Amino acid sequence: MGVLIGTSSKMNLTSTEAMAYLDALRPMLEDLPERDLFVLVPFTSIWVARDRLTGSNVRWGAQDVHPDDAGAHTGDVSAPMLADLGCTYVEVGHHERRRDHGETDELVAAKVEAVQRWGMTAIVCVGEEQRAPLDQVVEALDRQLRPLMASDVRRMVIAYEPAWAIGVGAQAAPADWVGRVHTTIRARLVSARPDAGTVPIIYGGSVDPASASALLQQPCVDGLFVGRQALDPRVFAAIAHASPSI
Ligand code: PGA
Repeated sequence: MGVLIGTSSKMNLTSTEAMAYLDALRPMLEDLPERDLFVLVPFTSIWVARDRLTGSNVRWGAQDVHPDDAGAHTGDVSAPMLADLGCTYVEVGHHERRRDHGETDELVAAKVEAVQRWGMTAIVCVGEEQRAPLDQVVEALDRQLRPLMASDVRRMVIAYEPAWAIGVGAQAAPADWVGRVHTTIRARLVSARPDAGTVPIIYGGSVDPASASALLQQPCVDGLFVGRQALDPRVFAAIAHASPSI
């Protein structure tokens, strides 16, 4: 797998806005066949992503899923529904879902299994709430990673997203910190599962064009997960073109 660069638009982009966004973005990314690119839009815009991105080098996906395949779960969306819309990726366990919907590590693991059962890849978000020394961060990450270790590591991406680096007013975590954490996550994964050495580990949290290159240069940083900066397609394209050198 090449460097993985993607965005979640979070609760932004109506289906009409998604059409304009994706039509602007697609040609700006055409010259990046060696990168693995993705866009995660709200459920209501996934059909637009399928329509506008089919045949391109950009994959699409969802920002959440219910662990069950079908049934009496009003308002929820299942993995077979997402697979039917051609999703490659489904994000699971984002900080905002853990915070706003009380999602636990066990629920996140059940969602990961649903995603994988339907042949898609789960992008699992992990990260500490507040800045803390590395050993405390590792404890928090271990708690989040442990329930995932029974699932199919070939269909998993880990996104390290420290809550303190996410959202308006925050800044990307320092690149050397991200390198240390990613190296630790890689070691923890491999010690738990010898076949987990190839799980991509991407970084998310206030990524912008200024921070992207230094982050990509760090050891074990296999890609970037972009939030608000990517709402401007030109900025997302700039980040997608960042090279791992300063
Ligand atoms: P942000 O979001 O780039 O707006 O901080 C990142 C994320 O939540 O993945």
